[in-house]
Amino acid sequence: MTFRANHLLGIEPLRPDEITALIDLADRYANDNRAGHAHKDVLTGMTQINMFFENSTRTQASFELAGKRLGADVMNMGMAQSSVKKGETLIDTALTLNAMHPDLLVVRHPNSGAVDLLAQKVNCAVLNAGDGRHEHPTQALLDGLTIRRAKGRLHRLSIAICGDILHSRVARSNIMLLGKMENRVRLIAPPTLMPAGAADLGVEVFEDMEKGLKDVDVVMMLRLQKERMDGGFVPSMREYYHRYGLDAAKLAHAKPDAIVMHPGPMNRGIEIDGSIADDINRSVIQTQVEMGVAVRMAAMDLLAQNLRARRKENQSVMA
Ligand code: NCD
Repeated sequence: MTFRANHLLGIEPLRPDEITALIDLADRYANDNRAGHAHKDVLTGMTQINMFFENSTRTQASFELAGKRLGADVMNMGMAQSSVKKGETLIDTALTLNAMHPDLLVVRHPNSGAVDLLAQKVNCAVLNAGDGRHEHPTQALLDGLTIRRAKGRLHRLSIAICGDILHSRVARSNIMLLGKMENRVRLIAPPTLMPAGAADLGVEVFEDMEKGLKDVDVVMMLRLQKERMDGGFVPSMREYYHRYGLDAAKLAHAKPDAIVMHPGPMNRGIEIDGSIADDINRSVIQTQVEMGVAVRMAAMDLLAQNLRARRKENQSVMA
């Protein structure tokens, strides 16, 4: 068994062979999902709790669907209505849930590091569904699978990640995953949205879209994370679109068969032109959503196998 982790907290601790194992399994689930085959028994008898302390459409829906396709009992905690609003700490909430004996806990939280902390307090498998600006591992994995299916490989590609890199956990997780798989990664952003020390991440840094997009195989756009900005990071939305919004003229600098990606939710007319997003010859944005379900099925399948093995070991130690 290649994938030995107890939790999926980030891309950072994963080895390339673990990433490949997870993506291979997700690829098979994607084919089965298209063919309409269910896998009801993989998580049968297991309880999955989704705790989203931040808004989500795609990620929460696909974790829920993935769990249900695999036969888990899935519970969505409405965090807006929960005791968190009454001042209960994250750890208290986690311990309360832990006492209900879940097997899989899927957590999204606005604070970087919150999900790691929580994983230390519970005895089930924890999946990070996005923590602050830190990591969003299943997003990077679904992006990897989408690229591999579109380009036939996930190595030796030239990939541009463009826009609000500073606030983006999607960018951080992708920089690590794409780097581990030996791709050439370029970051394109205005200086205000480029993290300090970006050049030390083993990437090339560009301020200009035309130069940065030259001959790339993949163009990955990012949403402007206005909720994480507390001031003037960009002069105006119009100016931002003019310089950094992906339109046909800018895309013409990439390879003729370059694909366009966006994790969603999209701001059309701010970071991307609507007609590019909808161009079925270039955009793989809907495929990303489709691969999201398959990647979450694969991640929960592998973590559940490890959890069962650990529990069995513990039982034999106690016997
Ligand atoms: C991303 C996120 O939440 O980090 N969205 C997602 O999971 N599909 C990106 C974003 O919110 O811009």
